[in-house]
Parts: sequence; C-alpha cells; structure tokens
Amino acid sequence: MKKLVVSSGAGISAESGMMTYRDAGGLWDTYPVMEVASAEGFAANPPLIHEFYSNMRKKMQDTVHPNAAHLGLVDLEKDFDVRIITQNVDDLHERAGSKHVLHLHGELMKVRSMRHPERIYQLPCDQLTDKGLTTTVDTRDPYGDPVRPHIVFFGESVPEFEPAVGLVQQADILVVIGTSLVVYPAAALLQYARRGTEVYYIDPNPASVPSWVHVIPKKATEGVADLIKLLRNQ
Ligand code: OAD
Repeated sequence: MKKLVVSSGAGISAESGMMTYRDAGGLWDTYPVMEVASAEGFAANPPLIHEFYSNMRKKMQDTVHPNAAHLGLVDLEKDFDVRIITQNVDDLHERAGSKHVLHLHGELMKVRSMRHPERIYQLPCDQLTDKGLTTTVDTRDPYGDPVRPHIVFFGESVPEFEPAVGLVQQADILVVIGTSLVVYPAAALLQYARRGTEVYYIDPNPASVPSWVHVIPKKATEGVADLIKLLRNQ
C-alpha cells in the first residue's frame, strides 16, 4: 500500500466550528497569542492559561464534531497507508476514526504533570482532583503534583517534530491541508518530502509554495472530496 501522509492545520477544523488562528476574526485576533500560548505567558499568568484551555475544551466537547474532510481522510485508509501529522490540538481526526495521528503541538484533551512531564492524563480523568474538563492552578495529579495543558507553547521545543519528519520522508503522497505555513518547524515539513513524492496543498487562501506542489485552492471539505476522486482515478 502506498503511504499517504497528511499534514493538517487549523483550516481542516474550520468547517467544524473551530476558530483558525490567523484568519480575520481568528483566535489570535481575539486573544493575545503571547499571553495564552507562550511559555512566558504561562509563567506570567497560569490561571489565565488554565481558564483559556478549559474553555476551549468545553467548546470542543459540546459543539464541535468532525467534518467531511476528517471523514474523507478516514475513507482513504481503504486504499492507502494513511498517517496524519496535525498541528491541531483538537481531537477531530481521532473522533472521525483516523488510526494514526501525531500531534505536533500537543493535545487539548490532555494535561501533564509539571514535575514529571511523562505523566500525561486524558481528560476527563478520575485520578485528578478536578474530574471534569476544567483544570486550575490547584488541580493535582495522584502524586500531589500540579498539572498544565499538554500543549506546545511558543518558546518550547517540539518533541514530535523528528518523528513527523520521518513520516514525511517515507511519504509517496503528501497532502497539506488548511495551514498558513507560518509556524516553524511545522511549516518546514514540506521540505522533507523525497523527490518524486506527489504533494498536494488544500487551502482556500494558500500560502506561496514551490511549483512542484499541486495547489487545490478550496475549503477542506471540498478539497478532500476532489483529492479522493483524483487519487482513485489515477
Ligand atoms: P492558521 O490560523 O495560521 O492558518 C489557517 C489556515 O487555514 C489558513 O491558511 C486559511 O486560509 C486556512 N483555512 C481557513 N478556512 C479553511 C477551510 N474551511 N478549509 C481549509 N483551510 C482553511 O493556522 P495554522 O497554520 O494551523 O499553535 O497555525 C499553526 C499554529 O499556530 C497552530 O498549531 C497554533 C498556532 O499558534 C499553537 O497553538 C501551539
């Protein structure tokens, strides 16, 4: 089976009702990015960070569902060995049913121990002092340690980048969906595709990319439907 690697960004979840970050009216227009998504912001105001991610979790749980683009990628598993690398912290690829999902920027529905980062908890979690989706600076894990969102903040390293590069290097087909390609190192992934890899980029407002990339300038749901037809007719 050919290996089809997907690199998704906020745009794939836009039609599910998740705000993107940099489109007009996006999350970073509404909240100061360095306050809610940076290592400095977390150090300066941890309660704000807990509140921000707790609210996002609630919204994701209550009102956001996978869309036809997420589901289309699951359908492609019939024909391809599909591996998803996502910059998204939402769990819509998993909820859609994708088998292999690597989160470059962490996961909204997880928190981890501040003292032992390898202790990661999927929310809601009975082992924590707060059993729901809300965490605060007072939330403790079973060892009595405070927890923090399992999110890669600006200024922190991206531990899943190397595994992601490994996947891109093995790709026969690479599909980039819904990302402005401005946040590094994620934006650099494209550069690791082998010569001869077919590369597609689905985005209604695509960033400029090398000429060997086939751009599909459409929303994710339409673009993924086009891609499926295209790949099945090859
Ligand atoms: P951006 O908000 O920077 O870019 C969103 C992209 O989605 C843009 O290129 C839009 O044109 C596109 N888009 C909008 N609606 C779409 C639709 N219906 N279908 C397909 N594409 C659509 O989001 P990212 O590139 O994902 O990191 O941002 C990268 C990182 O910056 C995020 O992971 C986040 C943020 O800071 C962290 O929070 C750690």
